[in-house]
Formats: sequence, C-alpha cells, structure tokens
Amino acid sequence: MQLDTTQIRKHFSALALHDDGRRRIYLDNPAGTQVPESVIDAIGDCLRHANANLGGPFNSSIAADDIVKSAHLAMADLLNAPSPAEIVFGANMTSLTFQISRALGGQLNPGDEIIVSELDHDANVTPWALLARDLELVVKKIRLDTDSFTLDYEQFDDLLNDRTRLVCVGHASNLLGTINDIPRICTAAHKYGALVFVDGVHSVPHLSIDVQSLGCDFLVCSPYKFFGPHQGVLWGRKALLESLDAYKLVPAPDTLPGRFETGTQNHEAMAGVTAAVDYLASLAGESEPRRKRLEQALELIREYEHQLCRALIERLTVIEGLTVHGITAASELSHRAPTVSFTMRGVHPATIAKTLAQNNIFAWSGHSYAVEPCKALGLLDSGGVLRVGLVHYNTAEDVDALIDVLQQIAAEEQDRLSA
Ligand SMILES: Cc1ncc(COP(=O)(O)O)c(C=O)c1O
Repeated sequence: MQLDTTQIRKHFSALALHDDGRRRIYLDNPAGTQVPESVIDAIGDCLRHANANLGGPFNSSIAADDIVKSAHLAMADLLNAPSPAEIVFGANMTSLTFQISRALGGQLNPGDEIIVSELDHDANVTPWALLARDLELVVKKIRLDTDSFTLDYEQFDDLLNDRTRLVCVGHASNLLGTINDIPRICTAAHKYGALVFVDGVHSVPHLSIDVQSLGCDFLVCSPYKFFGPHQGVLWGRKALLESLDAYKLVPAPDTLPGRFETGTQNHEAMAGVTAAVDYLASLAGESEPRRKRLEQALELIREYEHQLCRALIERLTVIEGLTVHGITAASELSHRAPTVSFTMRGVHPATIAKTLAQNNIFAWSGHSYAVEPCKALGLLDSGGVLRVGLVHYNTAEDVDALIDVLQQIAAEEQDRLSA
C-alpha cells in the first residue's frame, strides 16, 4: 500500500489556494501544518453544538464532555499511552513544559542536575534553565557533534551521575531533522534514577510514536504540527503525574488528567485534535482498530517522506555554494526527519526566504527557536538557516519548484561574483 497524494491533497483546501495565479507551496510545515477539512468541520461543529462547560445535565454540556473524552482517547492512541488519563491538554508545548517543570521542581533539591541538549528547541532548554536558576540546580548539556549532526552519546554517558534527576531531550530536531536515540537515552538515564522528558513536537508528524517502547517518562507534542489546531499535549506516566504537586485551583479535580488541565480547556481545539488523529488513521483504511491504523499510516508517511527527502537532499547538495546543515548521506537518511536546513554562500537566509515568498513558496529563515544547534553550528549571528520541511502532502512538484528558484538565486550569486 502506498499513499495516494492526489487524494490526500483533496482533504486540504489550503493546498488548492492560489495568489496572483501562483499556487501556494507550503514548505513551512515544521512551524505548523495545514489542516484537513474534517478538522475545520469538527472545530465548527463543537462551537455550533457543544459550546458549554463540562459536567452539566443538559445536552450541550454532555456533548462537550464527550468531545473532551474522545480527544484524550485519540491522543492515547496516537502516542500509545496505556491510559487516556495520562494525556494532558494545554495551550501549547511551551506552556505545558513550563507547567510540568514547576511541578517537577517540587521534587528537586539544590545541587541536583538536569541534562539538556545542544540539539534542542529552546522550549526544552529555557524552562529547565529557569527552574535551575530558581532552585539552584545544575544544568549540563549533551554536545551536538557538528560533523555527524547527532548527539554525542558517549559524552552524554559521562554527564550522568547520582545527582542527575532529569534528562530533557528532543525526539527529532526541528532545525536539522536528526532523530535521537531515545530508547538509548532512557536506558542510560534510568540506571541513575533520572527521569526523561522528551520533546516530541517535531517527531509526531513523521514517526509512529509509542511512548511505551521509547521508554521515556514524559513526552510533549503540538497538534498544530500534525494537521490539527493550535494546542499542546503532554503525556506522562500515571504514577508520576499523580505523585507531582499540581499547581491547581481548589475546586479543580485532584484526579488525572484534570489536576493538570488548568482552567477551562479549549474544547473546540480538542474536537479538532480528535479529527486530526482520525484523519491520520484514515490513511491506512478503516477496518482495524485506530492504534493499528495509525501505526500503518505513519509507516506509509515515513516511507513517502523518506523518498521525497532523499530527492530534495540530492538536488540541494549539487547547487553551487549551498551547504546542507544536517545528515545527507543516503545510507543515514532513516536517522532524520524530512526537515532540511541550509545556507548559501553570499546570500542571507532572509533574502532566500523573501525570494521564495515572491514565488509563493513558504519557508522560514532564522533559528526557528532552535537556538542551541544554531549556536553550535556557528550560524546564530549570520542569520541562521533557510529551513524547508516536507510532510506527506508535499509532492515532487513542490521540490521541483523550490529547486528552480534556488538554482536561479545561486546563478545570480555566481554572476555577481564573476562581474
Ligand atoms: C521541536 C519543537 N519543540 C517545541 C516547540 C514549541 O511548541 P509550541 O509552539 O507548541 O509551544 C516547537 C515549535 O516550533 C518545536 O518545533
């Protein structure tokens, strides 16, 4: 079975949009994906028919209860969480990480150590650095090997000791695409009794996630990166979530997940999340249980994106003056997500982004909040990178269009140099 991209694209009305006769080409997916019509409909339906607070005896409230329950079940399926009670919704990954970091802080003492990484988005670095500042903890960093674009696992092993309480690391880099070996990190960390907090924001759109086989203790992600609405989701082991001191109001439930879902939640976005998960599952048919279909669908997505990413990288690397910052060897591509960052000699990344925009190709330049890897690569003060991120609705034609414009930019730069 293969993905039928033509059919898939019909689900996304945004993909059919044109501006001044040019179709929109979305390569800004790592910053947020487009959503299928079913997600838009689910959000609208919630606001039309279920716009009420929870727990009431009347129909709109009963419908809202149902939406909230379904969203927890959907995310439990997507992440293979043992229980929907372990799924916590929140505003976004950043807010959830700040929240859980404060709750975890209640179990830490001055001198305890937290390990973060040089490959991570700032949302998995600064919340821990601020916690460390407040509680006099020690923060250590796993080194990014700037030749292989992977974490230095041996140096990580050396960082671990009896004072290590927490390892905070991304599953996949939103800048370089590198996929980290989370099971290896968890095994090593757990030997010292440390917990592992995984930022899954960049992996969930591309990989079948199974929190149980990853072996981590927490995983956070953002549905707006996987075809859903703007929201955040945290998964945590039940016993752990129950043991933490939740910053909650007195009348709020003391049980999971309510003790961490502060205030009134975004029910319409939850309806959208369920629809996004159902959309993903639908890519693998209709007959089997949703978890099984999600596994199959994400396998199909991975295979499709892998081929497209390979073609993209092969064509980028032969453009004069262009350097890809990330894994490029064909044999190593299974260790990366299809997010590719590059620089071009003599051309500022923001200039490339503007020229692409003039051609209705959407992509971001800069550090994309991945401050640590940008710093490690020495690119922070020179405008960062130009980042293009593929998802399963992108096509070979999207790649062709990108390469055409980049070749023109490169040719103009060559002309300028030889003038
Ligand atoms: C890898 C990664 N982690 C964390 C975040 C922050 O997510 P949110 O916007 O949900 O706070 C992002 C957003 O770009 C990201 O790409």
